[in-house]
Amino acid sequence: MPDPEATAEPIVCARNLTRIYPLGAGTVTGVAGLNLDIARGEFVVLKGPSGSGKSTLLALLAALDTPSAGELTVAGRRLSGRPPGDLTRFRREAVGMVFQSFNLLPTLNVIENICLPALLAGRDEREARRRAEELLERLGLSGRARHPADRLSGGEMQRVAIARAVINHPALVLADEPTGNLDSRNGSAVIELLARLNREDRITVLLATHSDLADGVATRRLTLRDGALVSPPCGD
Ligand SMILES: Nc1ncnc2c1ncn2[C@@H]1O[C@H](COP(=O)(O)OP(=O)(O)OP(=O)(O)O)[C@@H](O)[C@H]1O
Ligand SMILES: [Mg+2]
Repeated sequence: MPDPEATAEPIVCARNLTRIYPLGAGTVTGVAGLNLDIARGEFVVLKGPSGSGKSTLLALLAALDTPSAGELTVAGRRLSGRPPGDLTRFRREAVGMVFQSFNLLPTLNVIENICLPALLAGRDEREARRRAEELLERLGLSGRARHPADRLSGGEMQRVAIARAVINHPALVLADEPTGNLDSRNGSAVIELLARLNREDRITVLLATHSDLADGVATRRLTLRDGALVSPPCGD
């Protein structure tokens, strides 16, 4: 069997991807007939005005939401028409999500937060802890392993959220405005961390943001307007 990592197949392939939200008697367009290929190893920065569809697109790619129409293949899995169990497994194994609001579990400590997706995926607890400790070391947070998650600074919380997003070795990280609640120093540290994971672990990154902090590390920049891409979807 060919190694999927070694193929040139794009990690994201969206064709006519559409998400229309029903609202009252009418509808609202989230994403409108979007075509997009992202190659493995890219660091894509996605911009666009508020309401242009960035979060909608990321939610579709993470299988947190279902398209109204179109085809979507992510990390070699066609997402349309899958039973919920398959989509849960996909979310645990193939993608890592990072949000503006960190979404850590406040009653758990740092290492427990990071290990949670590994334990939910049925991985060995000692192995998960080993990987979490290695990530903490790389993130410069070794001293915070037993710290309650709600007693961290914002920058630390986001670094922990990134460790949690990559504990299961996802091929793709989807980051929705991850620097939105951070000052520029902490925001830059978060971008540098994502860039390192992209470079060193070859994790593909799709980052939705209003900020210019990631412009320098992007391999490609895309712009959404009214749910459609306004820059060329393939190449640069
Ligand atoms: N659950 C929903 N029901 C109805 N409309 C929605 C829903 N979620 C999003 N929308 C609408 O879809 C459009 C795209 O929203 P989305 O959140 O994807 O934009 P965005 O680019 O992420 O914006 P921002 O930069 O403010 O985060 C907007 O017009 C929004 O009002
Ligand atoms: Mg958004």
